[in-house]
Amino acid sequence: MIVNNISPRNISTGPMQIAKGKFYLETYGCQMNVADSELVVSILQDSGFMLTTDYKDADAIFINTCSIRENAELRVKGRLDNFRHLKKKTPHLIVGILGCMAERLKDQWLDEDKLVDMVVGPDAYRELPDLIKLANTGEKAINVILSRDETYSDISPVRLDKNGVTSFVSIMRGCDNMCAYCVVPFTRGRERSRNYKTIISEVEDLVVKGYKEVTLLGQNVDKYNWNDGEVNFAHLLEIVAKVSPELRVRFSTSYPQDITDEVLEIMAKYHNICKYIHLPVQSGSNKILELMKRGYTREHYMQRVESIRRIIPDCAISTDIIAGFCSETEQDHKDTLSLMKWAKFDYAYMFQYSERPNTLAQRKYQDDVPDEVKTHRLTQIIELQNHLSLESNKLDLGKVFEVLVEGVSKKSGEKLFGRNSQNKVVVFPKEHYKIGDYANVLVKECTSATLKGVPVL
Ligand code: 5AD
Ligand code: SF4
Repeated sequence: MIVNNISPRNISTGPMQIAKGKFYLETYGCQMNVADSELVVSILQDSGFMLTTDYKDADAIFINTCSIRENAELRVKGRLDNFRHLKKKTPHLIVGILGCMAERLKDQWLDEDKLVDMVVGPDAYRELPDLIKLANTGEKAINVILSRDETYSDISPVRLDKNGVTSFVSIMRGCDNMCAYCVVPFTRGRERSRNYKTIISEVEDLVVKGYKEVTLLGQNVDKYNWNDGEVNFAHLLEIVAKVSPELRVRFSTSYPQDITDEVLEIMAKYHNICKYIHLPVQSGSNKILELMKRGYTREHYMQRVESIRRIIPDCAISTDIIAGFCSETEQDHKDTLSLMKWAKFDYAYMFQYSERPNTLAQRKYQDDVPDEVKTHRLTQIIELQNHLSLESNKLDLGKVFEVLVEGVSKKSGEKLFGRNSQNKVVVFPKEHYKIGDYANVLVKECTSATLKGVPVL
């Protein structure tokens, strides 16, 4: 009996049987997860499986999940409910949980949710084809072993981006920082760097395929370290920048304690390294930074911002902020607001603190800021950031920026959108420009989220 048609619906090519099952993949969470999904597709396609964009047509449904905040997990659980009726109708359908929630909840999935057949952590994707075979026999399949050296170096990701212009390249995995609130070290394991030679070949391949921008990804890119310092992050940036002057280079995420002047100087030296740094501060209060185990003070952070402004005067800076961490007082919150005003962040990702199981904060601190206070503080932070973003954008009025065109504007088919080096979205009339072109755009209007302008020669 055919238990599941994802594997047994085979075609014969000589002595080997190649599975022709179709799989559907949905991705939640950070850019790293998007990059991981591209590896998953590559691994599965190499084993003969086919990607489908219609889950109703799939023999296996995979969800690449995120655990960073409780809300992220609730969204995934909500989404799973959509697949329940399908599984009832087609019992041989495989449902697999991949990534951070697989790692965090492990076999709890299999014990608690009949829907789930496979649980695969972020370091076990090479095992996917074998795990699918196992699931096809009716067994539950799980691999959540974290590795100290897996970087999927040799796997060419299948690009899932829609524009064919911008792409992510993973340069390292895991995180050793152990910030008190963060689940990532538990879900993604120890920090490890990918061989720079394979990074370069991946970037070269993207250039050949016509890509115009790469974003080098890691939880803490400043810790990139190949072969005991033979290649550090500054070296890597320089090597990637030299691949092609036409290729823009971005990176994420930087860490305030680790970002070096050497990196800033390389950024200043190469036109094609984008003048944009994402430098999460989390809080402006030294007491909270200490409790968060961030390893730097407000003053150190300010000193890093000053170095960025000195070495790269036109650099944009964005940040991450958490509102309502354990024991945060009104004064701590005010310290965050005052730091934001001082730094004049161009953009920020802002979150309410969400307690995560097994983190230091969950084990040792009280999640004692009431929800309504967290929400109120977050609202104040968002309002301030909207104001700062608008002020930052107003300073760009009358300037000309080189914009890499990424697509057609959602609001008008006659307009294109792209980003400038500072990562700001710029909208302008199409004229003769196409996706993938560089256009020089004179900024004439702005909102807090967008610059609007006209192309100039
Ligand atoms: N609660 C709220 N925000 C969090 N982040 C990480 N962990 C938590 C948490 N438990 C935020 C941080 C981090 C970003 C990726 O997510 O700001 O930089
Ligand atoms: Fe990415 Fe962290 Fe979410 Fe995992 S938990 S998907 S590493 S943001």
